[in-house]
Amino acid sequence: MAWKRICEATEVAENSVKKFEVDGVPILVVNYGAGFRAIPPICPHMEEPLEESGVVARCVLTCTKHLWAWNLQTLEMQGETERPLKTYDIKHENGVILADIDGELTYDFDSEDDMDDDFFK
Ligand code: FES
Repeated sequence: MAWKRICEATEVAENSVKKFEVDGVPILVVNYGAGFRAIPPICPHMEEPLEESGVVARCVLTCTKHLWAWNLQTLEMQGETERPLKTYDIKHENGVILADIDGELTYDFDSEDDMDDDFFK
């Protein structure tokens, strides 16, 4: 456990995302109205920067590039989405968002292998 301060909760408006860096680790904070999530700042599909391509509405984060989407309350994948979001554990204390950061969460983008697997199924 390594709880680190990311930001004031008021720094991230409702239904929006904002990127921060904590000890060299880039983190996207998402305010989905009913709560917050802290996630890696790139889409798990094709590495789009979610601070640009991500929109938040009705507790769902959607990457507008190819419309992968995740319910931020349950983390369920929506529609055609094929990979789960990775998240940092967070807590919201006295107006401050803290995350448990032991290292950077990353995705494996070996997309050529994925395509080959799909192709030969
Ligand atoms: S890059 Fe985000 S959905 Fe494709």
